[in-house]
Amino acid sequence: RGLWAVVPAAGRGARFGGDVPKQYLQVAGEPLLAHTLRALLAHPTVQGAVVALAEGDERWPRWREIEGKPLLTCVGGDARADSVLAGLAALPDSVRADDFVLVHDAARPNLASADLDQLLERGRNDPVGAILAAPVRDTLKRSGDDGGIDGTEPRERLWRALTPQLFRRLQLTRALEAAQASGIEVTDESMAMERQGLRPLLVEGADDNFKVTTPADLARFEFVLARRG
Ligand code: CTP
Ligand code: MG
Repeated sequence: RGLWAVVPAAGRGARFGGDVPKQYLQVAGEPLLAHTLRALLAHPTVQGAVVALAEGDERWPRWREIEGKPLLTCVGGDARADSVLAGLAALPDSVRADDFVLVHDAARPNLASADLDQLLERGRNDPVGAILAAPVRDTLKRSGDDGGIDGTEPRERLWRALTPQLFRRLQLTRALEAAQASGIEVTDESMAMERQGLRPLLVEGADDNFKVTTPADLARFEFVLARRG
């Protein structure tokens, strides 16, 4: 059975800087968003996607489909969670309340299909769902207010949360609404689920499923594309 994805693409890209939001920067002749959507929709299990756009977005190229699969749009919100909630609400009626849905950052173009395979295979067998994550590689320091080092945090069992994340449509909606109501900013879907006392599965994915946050990240993606040839 196929599944749908929600792609939040309503951010302003403040950390990247510049006039054009990063999802619309041209890479190899296409907006970054096209690369992300293709990586996601090329997977045989993914049926379609809802893209959450910023209000008044005039850069969206009005694609109706990618890889032969339907694309819908909706208007996102001020925080990432608002955009994801808008996307969940805009899913077609064929997506049932207990169906799994993928959420994937528009700014994360380098998703490998093998990672998506793993996430789907393991996540759909978990009652709650799952996220892709990568182990922390650096030694972690905790600083004091003065910038001095107070100590070293053990990095065993610490992970960087990536996307896609896989949860059930209604359960994720409820969890994000609860976070919204309590005024707490959740920075990924899993955090909202965790706050409900749920325990998503962690699926190790590739380190290089990076999010484009700064110009150096965009250069990294250009390098990846050049190497792919
Ligand atoms: N996003 C969104 N709606 C928001 C904020 C973010 O849909 N209100 C999306 C972004 O477009 C991006 C993804 O969530 O695809 C991850 O967010 P991030 O990397 O933080 O992107 P921005 O918020 O655009 O960047 P910044 O935080 O530097 O402003
Ligand atoms: Mg942001």
